[in-house]
Amino acid sequence: MNKDLLMPNHIGIIMDGNGRWAQKRGMIRTMGHKTAVGTLKKLCIHMADRGVKYASLYAFSTENFKRDIKEVEFLMNLFIESFKKEFDFIKEKKVRVLFSGRRKPLPKKVLEAMDQLVEDTKNYTDLTLNICLNYGSHAEIVDMTKKVCEMYHNGEISLENITEDFIQKNMYQDLPPLDFVIRTSGELRLSNFMMYQASYAEFYFPKVYFPDFTPEEFDKAIEVFQKRNRRFGGIENEVKSS
Ligand code: FPP
Repeated sequence: MNKDLLMPNHIGIIMDGNGRWAQKRGMIRTMGHKTAVGTLKKLCIHMADRGVKYASLYAFSTENFKRDIKEVEFLMNLFIESFKKEFDFIKEKKVRVLFSGRRKPLPKKVLEAMDQLVEDTKNYTDLTLNICLNYGSHAEIVDMTKKVCEMYHNGEISLENITEDFIQKNMYQDLPPLDFVIRTSGELRLSNFMMYQASYAEFYFPKVYFPDFTPEEFDKAIEVFQKRNRRFGGIENEVKSS
C-alpha cells in the first residue's frame, strides 16, 4: 500500500463469512460472530490510523431477522455487549459513531446502547463509523421517500427542491458517496447494502472470511483500489479518485 496515494474517502465493508469461518473450525456459527468483534475492533483502529474519514459497516440487514431466532438473539446481545465494552477505542481515536437502519423491531436494550454510543461520540471528527444495523437499501429508499413526501405535503419543499443532492441528504445519514466497497468471503453480491451511495464505488471481493480480515488484508485491498482508474462515466484518465 502506498501511503502517498489517495485513500478512499468512504469505505463500505460487508462483513461476510462469520458462520462459515466457525463451521470450518468445527465451532458453532455464533463463535464466528464473536471472533468478528475482535477483527472489527482492530480494523477500526487501523482505519483511523490510516486516516480513513468514513467507513460504513454492514452489521445486520433487515433480512437477517429471517435467521434462526437463537442466532438473532445472540447477535442482539453481542451488539449490546460490544457497544458497551469493546468500543473503548473510540475516545482515543476520536471516532464518531452513527447508525443507519430502522429502529423497529430492534430490542430496547440494543437501541439504548446505540443511542449512548452516538451521544458519547457526537463531537468527534476523525473517523466516522456508520454502523448499518437492521439496514436495507430498499427500506432506506422507502423511508426517504416517505420523509420527502411528508415535507412536500406540509409545504416545506416544492418539486424543484428534489435534486440528487437533496435525496442524498435525506437518506438515513448525510454521508459522502462510497468510493470503495469490500465484501469478504468471496461472495459477489451487494445484498441490499447502500445501493444509492455505491453507484460509482469500486468493488473488491477478497476470499477470506471476515474474522480473518486483518489490517494486512485491508492494506492489500487499498493497494488494489489505488490501482483502479475511476472514470465516473467520463473519459479514461480524465477523472481521478476523489
Ligand atoms: C455475516 O456473516 C455477518 C453477520 C450477519 C453479522 C455481522 C456481525 C458482526 C461482524 C459482529 C460485530 C458487529 C458489531 C457492529 C459489533 P454470516 O453469518 O452470514 O456468514 P456466512 O455467510 O458464513 O453464514
